[in-house]
Amino acid sequence: MGWKNNVVRSFDRKSAAYDQNCSVQQSIALRLAADLPVSDEVTDILEIGCGTGNLTQHLFRQYEGCNLRITDVSPAMVERAKAKFSGKEACWSVMDGENSDNTDTYDLIVSNMAFQWFEDIGAAVERLSSMLKPNGSLFYTMPGNKSFCEWKQVLTDLNLSIGILDFPTSSDIYREENIMHDYKGAVDFLRSMKNIGAGTARKDYTPLTHSEMKQACAALDRNHGGKTTWHVLYGRIDK
Ligand SMILES: C[S@@+](CC[C@H](N)C(=O)[O-])C[C@H]1O[C@@H](n2cnc3c(N)ncnc32)[C@H](O)[C@@H]1O
Repeated sequence: MGWKNNVVRSFDRKSAAYDQNCSVQQSIALRLAADLPVSDEVTDILEIGCGTGNLTQHLFRQYEGCNLRITDVSPAMVERAKAKFSGKEACWSVMDGENSDNTDTYDLIVSNMAFQWFEDIGAAVERLSSMLKPNGSLFYTMPGNKSFCEWKQVLTDLNLSIGILDFPTSSDIYREENIMHDYKGAVDFLRSMKNIGAGTARKDYTPLTHSEMKQACAALDRNHGGKTTWHVLYGRIDK
């Protein structure tokens, strides 16, 4: 419970800064939205990990008149998204996407860049799939394990501990893409990760000392000019 509490606290704290730092998540949400089924096949929709609403905005546009349940494990994220779409009809709730007692079923379950925070993604995907109605679909995106390979390489070369999560794999992936994001430098990359609330390190991480961090940042800037790759997985399950 301790690690998950840290995840929630981190997203809560950064909910106000999220929108200024989420251009990558925004572009992924746009591509995911374009893959979703047409509205006349869909009535009941569940979104997991809505954040401030990058995918939610497309759901409101594409599924007018449908029943939308929009959720996130972070109360502050839910409040922020709810305020942003205050004129729209939806059911908003704080929910852990991998541990809910929700017994409703859905035509469509969607999630953009949140499943990497699940502690057991296999069990979560199985459980969410069981919440699909006949002919229903689950669509999700998450970072793949080649994400931030430049930063991981720098830390490996310097024999330093890597705090980035071991991103999960899944057999339901229908598309992979690499997005090379041009941060202004290593410091901006790390600050931006913190400012989207993604600052919680993997469970076995030993934090770097100040001088190790300086050394690693200098190496990232020297070797990669602050550029870092997001490896993105798009998953889909049809019932
Ligand atoms: C990187 S943000 C993505 C937010 C949004 N979907 C977007 O496209 O910008 C990850 C979100 O997942 C949420 N999250 C993390 N763990 C979660 C869990 N177990 N259940 C539901 N949401 C979770 C976080 O609170 C955060 O809002």
